[in-house]
Amino acid sequence: MSSTELDTSTLAEKYDQLSDSQFENGKLLIKELQVENGHLVLDIGSGTGRLAEYVAKTVGKKGKVIGIDPSPHRIKVASSKVKPSSNLSFEVGNGEDLSRFKEESLDRVYLNAVLGWIENKGTTLAEIHRILKPGGKLGLTFTSKNIQKAFSTDRQVADRLLKKEPYASAVKSDDETPRHPIKTDELILLLINSGFKDIKLDIKKNTRYIPTTKEYFDKKEASAHGNFLANIPEKLRGQFKSDLEKELEKNRTPQGIELTNYSLFATATKS
Ligand SMILES: C[S@@+](CC[C@H](N)C(=O)[O-])C[C@H]1O[C@@H](n2cnc3c(N)ncnc32)[C@H](O)[C@@H]1O
Repeated sequence: MSSTELDTSTLAEKYDQLSDSQFENGKLLIKELQVENGHLVLDIGSGTGRLAEYVAKTVGKKGKVIGIDPSPHRIKVASSKVKPSSNLSFEVGNGEDLSRFKEESLDRVYLNAVLGWIENKGTTLAEIHRILKPGGKLGLTFTSKNIQKAFSTDRQVADRLLKKEPYASAVKSDDETPRHPIKTDELILLLINSGFKDIKLDIKKNTRYIPTTKEYFDKKEASAHGNFLANIPEKLRGQFKSDLEKELEKNRTPQGIELTNYSLFATATKS
């Protein structure tokens, strides 16, 4: 089952409104990727198309941005941003099947906050290498598995709860399926094995202040397209959510609930 089968139009519309943090990271990634006027760009896991719409302005009329996403709900919201004779288009499509794209046909390919949802990352990265032009670049933003586990505030709060009953005996704390987070060194190995060179990595600390736990859950649910807390058995999910809410409230400051995490940025060039 694809991770997007539980997505809904409500979650997709909410994501479009609540995805400022992903959008801001995406803009930084696009700068690092040196996207230029005239470039042909593929946005894998484009979601509701905010970043693709932004990139379309940079590549101008001579360029083109194609966004693909397996969720028809996200593609519907994204397609509403396409104007007649636009250099922007969206199609339902999975990052694990890029066979529709021709060899050496694209200048830039990026995945913004998507890599963790791709199960077979080796195949996808090799396919991206195939479809990029020589000298073309790949860009990724992602959360690194071990860095997230060690430093993300909400992940630490959740992990502490999962060590206690009734969760400890019911949940495998390391199993995040259908997400498949990757460690940074594992990603570097995959990039090298796929033929990429000039691999650059950067890390950014994000501190956010969330006014209410409702806003926190709304953003998490919309970002996970129906898979939020999928690793917790359904009968325990309500109780876990209210336990998590109480724990998150302990991080309240005058500005809101303080949450820290780290975003990873990677760029690589096709040799
Ligand atoms: C957190 S959202 C990021 C959306 C967008 N890239 C952005 O910058 O806002 C994750 C996206 O990954 C998509 N996704 C999940 N599995 C995928 C896959 N196998 N291939 C491509 N996209 C996938 C989801 O549908 C969702 O739109």
